[in-house]
Amino acid sequence: MGDHSEQIKKKIAALQWTESVSKNVLLVDDEIRIAQEVKVLLEKDGYTVTIVPNGKRAMEEIKENPPDLILSDIAIRHINGFDLCRYVKQDPVTKDIPVILITGLTRPDDKIKGIQVGANDFIGKPFDPMELKVRVASAIEMKTLQATLVNVDEVIFAFARAVEARDPYTRGHSERVGRYAMKLAGALGLDPAYQTVLMNGAILHDIGKIGIRDSVLLKSDKLTNQEFEEIKKHPAIGLQICAPLKSSRPLLNIIAYHHEKMDGTGYPYGLIGDTIPFESRITAITDTFDALTSDRPYRKALRTIEACHILESGIETHYDEDILPVFIEIALRGELAHIASEVHDGWSPANHDSDGPMRNLKDFGMMSYIIKS
Ligand SMILES: [Fe+2]
Repeated sequence: MGDHSEQIKKKIAALQWTESVSKNVLLVDDEIRIAQEVKVLLEKDGYTVTIVPNGKRAMEEIKENPPDLILSDIAIRHINGFDLCRYVKQDPVTKDIPVILITGLTRPDDKIKGIQVGANDFIGKPFDPMELKVRVASAIEMKTLQATLVNVDEVIFAFARAVEARDPYTRGHSERVGRYAMKLAGALGLDPAYQTVLMNGAILHDIGKIGIRDSVLLKSDKLTNQEFEEIKKHPAIGLQICAPLKSSRPLLNIIAYHHEKMDGTGYPYGLIGDTIPFESRITAITDTFDALTSDRPYRKALRTIEACHILESGIETHYDEDILPVFIEIALRGELAHIASEVHDGWSPANHDSDGPMRNLKDFGMMSYIIKS
């Protein structure tokens, strides 16, 4: 009996979830009779359908009441279906709204054009009512699934912030690591999309520390070998946590491999040289730089020039020999100082270089590192 009532409760919960998923369809068609037929058809399945007769009205409606799906004829007045679709897909606020274009069966080029402007699906006119229902349901289901995945991303990112908040000495660390990585990626000529991956990867890179005990993670004295072995597990734990993320492979690479070293002495996998993903090699440098230039319980923050000396000593063993010089160059030019002061927690302003970046560059004897342009 108990089991039975539990099952009913679950069914009711599932039903409420289904009910709570909004199903607002915006139908853009100037043939009122056909539009009304579609409206009746979809409303039988629980959708709320708003009809607008042209592209201009559609754009206004999308702004005021963003729908869950747009079903648009191509041959509409003012702004045609292709332009309407392009407008929806180019706006970050509306780009996830699925668009189904209604095409004439005699116009095969319409599909190609539709794909180019980002249409999610097509339906031919005159349409089969069952096909219409299936295509609408499938597009809405896809949108709902996507929204769920985005929420998972948000939860995991919030989680990462929470992990960092446990340790006052590392607050702001992940954001600085990411912003340094973006700066470095820019200097390496990598495109903005890749820079965003680096930023997101850096925010998550130490998320696996959630699996490390406070007594080890927050210990201010030297770690025992056993404790260090525990710390070394955090990249693998992070990978396990983030595996379901709707993220690109490079982002997961940063989480898993940011402590690998070029000579194979890193952890946890001991990867060597080029087997370490490129984005992980970038983050290894910016992660270490931020750790060195931040206060720690056992030492004060180092100056940029001191941190660069330490990084340089690892150029043949720890770091990528092509990437590190570019990083050292931008660091010594003072191009990272504003990041450190903007993301303030954990950073000691007293350790900013006061003598000016170029003097540091000269003192450092790193002129040979300046990339020839
Ligand atoms: Fe780490």
